[in-house]
Amino acid sequence: MPLLTPQINLFKKSNPLQVKVISNTRLTPELGLGKRPRSEGDSAVHRIALEVDHTAYPYMIGQSAGIIPPGEDPEKLAKGSADPSYTVRLYSIASPSFSFGQTKNNIEFIVKRDNVYDPDGNLLHRGVCSNYLCDLKPGDLVTMTGPAGKKFLLPQKDFSGDYIFLATGTGISPFFGMIEEILEQKLYPFFGKITLIYGAPYSDEIVLRNYFESMERKHSNFRLITAISREEKNPFDGGKMYISHRVKENTELVKNAVQNGGKIYICGGPKGMEKGVIEEMLNIIKTSDPNGVHPTYEEFKKSLEEKEQLFVETY
Ligand SMILES: Cc1cc2nc3c(=O)[nH]c(=O)nc-3n(C[C@H](O)[C@H](O)[C@H](O)COP(=O)(O)OP(=O)(O)OC[C@H]3O[C@@H](n4cnc5c(N)ncnc54)[C@H](O)[C@@H]3O)c2cc1C
Ligand SMILES: NC(=O)c1ccc[n+]([C@@H]2O[C@H](COP(=O)([O-])OP(=O)(O)OC[C@H]3O[C@@H](n4cnc5c(N)ncnc54)[C@H](OP(=O)(O)O)[C@@H]3O)[C@@H](O)[C@H]2O)c1
Repeated sequence: MPLLTPQINLFKKSNPLQVKVISNTRLTPELGLGKRPRSEGDSAVHRIALEVDHTAYPYMIGQSAGIIPPGEDPEKLAKGSADPSYTVRLYSIASPSFSFGQTKNNIEFIVKRDNVYDPDGNLLHRGVCSNYLCDLKPGDLVTMTGPAGKKFLLPQKDFSGDYIFLATGTGISPFFGMIEEILEQKLYPFFGKITLIYGAPYSDEIVLRNYFESMERKHSNFRLITAISREEKNPFDGGKMYISHRVKENTELVKNAVQNGGKIYICGGPKGMEKGVIEEMLNIIKTSDPNGVHPTYEEFKKSLEEKEQLFVETY
């Protein structure tokens, strides 16, 4: 299978693509039925598939697509804007570059309703585009732009070293498609290891757990490590368990990836969360060579990015 080159901005807000919804499934427990207390409000993550012909929209896993919510933005209207339509929102593509099943006829997303609740669980703000997407029904039409992004991609030539994928929340989206593409679709020979370190507030909000656990059973070179922030305590300071603590626990895995050309991808929110992860990676390198001369955080991050070993998409 030939590897692709990223195409960007084939469709813009001025010439968008209209696509049809195939399916929309909720992946997290309904409000009150899961581990999350009602007082924290609902946590609704959906898997949404849209009908997309890959000849018209040749996306690559790791890219994002833009969605334009229908209607007019009240803030733009209040300001008397000449174009009060909503701003494009980006969503990481969750399906592999040739779709699940290599059918080349759809695109998938993992979207969370971005709602804001007060401390009693009352809704303060209902995210415009995320709620529009999570409410879609099969057959509905969606207005899409993109593809967007040409950095957060799998290697553009054969690579058989180790991958570490680090996700928080909906940051799992690109790794779903990447894992399928590398391990199941085998677009090129792969003899390395993949470790997925995935953080979520509650254990039942680790979406697609069955898929990742089945990949573990099927592929001895794939491992899932979770960090459940509101159920588990980290052993270092007794606080919440974050993906950065899982990095700190897996010294050999991280050292080996950093020193032997492994690829490290970080995706999800909150924006800037990569800092804690990269700091722990640098601490591991420092501890393994206490008398060495070590880079600063910025130098370490830049050098890994320049060597195409580190890829960050946080929002
Ligand atoms: C590269 C990239 C990839 C992304 N991938 C994904 C993905 O795969 N899945 C996903 O779910 N999201 C993803 N996002 C986030 C997505 O683009 C949107 O930002 C998200 O869905 C929220 O959009 P919205 O229109 O629903 O919310 P908006 O209505 O735009 O609100 C966004 C936020 O603004 C604040 N806010 C706005 N108005 C108020 C108010 N009146 N009161 C209180 N707070 C307010 C809140 O914090 C709210 O959460 C990605 C973002 C980027 C940049
Ligand atoms: N998904 C979206 O729609 C969206 C869009 C734009 C921005 N965001 C932002 O992204 C963040 C996560 O949103 P989400 O709903 O997708 O995920 P989520 O389901 O809330 O999961 C995020 C996980 O990361 C943990 N975490 C928080 N800070 C961290 C840090 N510095 N390092 C490592 N882990 C950290 C969280 O722990 P605790 O929460 O228990 O501390 C939680 O377990 C929020 O801040 C949100 O504002 C989300």
